[in-house]
Amino acid sequence: MKIALVTGATAGIGLETARGLAEQGFHVLLHGRTLAKARAAAAEIRGGRVSPLHADLSDLDAVRQLADNVRANHPRLDVLINNAGVWNSRQELTAEGIEKTFVVNHLAPFLLTGLLRDHLLPDGRIICVASDSHKQVKGMAFGNLNLDGNYHGLRSYAQSKLANILFCYEYDRRKEDATTICAVQPGLVQTDIGLKGNTWLHRLAWRVRRRMSGNKTPAEGAATSIFLATADSAPPSGLYWDEKRPKRSYSSSYSEDEARQLWEISERLTSYTYRF
Ligand SMILES: NC(=O)c1ccc[n+]([C@@H]2O[C@H](COP(=O)([O-])OP(=O)(O)OC[C@H]3O[C@@H](n4cnc5c(N)ncnc54)[C@H](OP(=O)(O)O)[C@@H]3O)[C@@H](O)[C@H]2O)c1
Repeated sequence: MKIALVTGATAGIGLETARGLAEQGFHVLLHGRTLAKARAAAAEIRGGRVSPLHADLSDLDAVRQLADNVRANHPRLDVLINNAGVWNSRQELTAEGIEKTFVVNHLAPFLLTGLLRDHLLPDGRIICVASDSHKQVKGMAFGNLNLDGNYHGLRSYAQSKLANILFCYEYDRRKEDATTICAVQPGLVQTDIGLKGNTWLHRLAWRVRRRMSGNKTPAEGAATSIFLATADSAPPSGLYWDEKRPKRSYSSSYSEDEARQLWEISERLTSYTYRF
């Protein structure tokens, strides 16, 4: 039985990704912020084998514990889906003084992928749920990643999603095994991401935006991740996917200098050094 870890699988796209993989015979390691949430989501999935796991991804020590837990209790991973994500109206900092959206959306998956890399099969698949929102920034604000004095939820979210794609492309350049790494644009999906802890104005804006015609259901939003995880032959690595097809991401994401710089900063901020 293939084993897939799906982060942020207690709601929205992640829950439907977990459900879809369980239906296709995967043993799903279903991650949530708390064990209670992960258990409740696992109970919603009928049939298949689902094991709840938890970690608050804004806490890098909790990310390390999550990786230890996976390594100790599961023999290997076939697929890792870095799906969890947040959109925060207000700037919040972690105990280490790092902006939370950047930690949850980028540093946590950067660290988790590194810690689980040698637990993943040499031809395993890593799927990073990104977003076309990355086009809203021209590059990473390296001098001020926390966006002090310049914070806006859109800017912070867009920067973190650009980081997802820069990470995916740079991982692909560095890797020496047959791992496949893909970034995914799920589409505009009717989830609660814009309602959690945000200002009333941003909640209202998200309620209106997600209702617009043509927007996807969470199950439709999960389709590309499920396709990449389950395709019989390994998809080509280092590409950006939308609607089960590769497409070009925006120009800012192809800067190798930015990707290298982001990698080095991420290693420093997570105290984790990748060795390929
Ligand atoms: N919805 C869209 O239109 C859209 C478009 C493009 C990309 N995406 C991306 O798709 C992914 C899934 O988003 P979604 O729309 O499905 O949102 P969602 O319904 O809010 O689901 C996000 C998941 O991530 C979890 N999560 C958030 N912060 C966490 C933390 N600190 N620790 C642990 N888990 C945490 C959430 O748990 P809690 O419920 O406990 O917070 C939830 O399980 C994200 O990466 C997002 O950026 C979404």
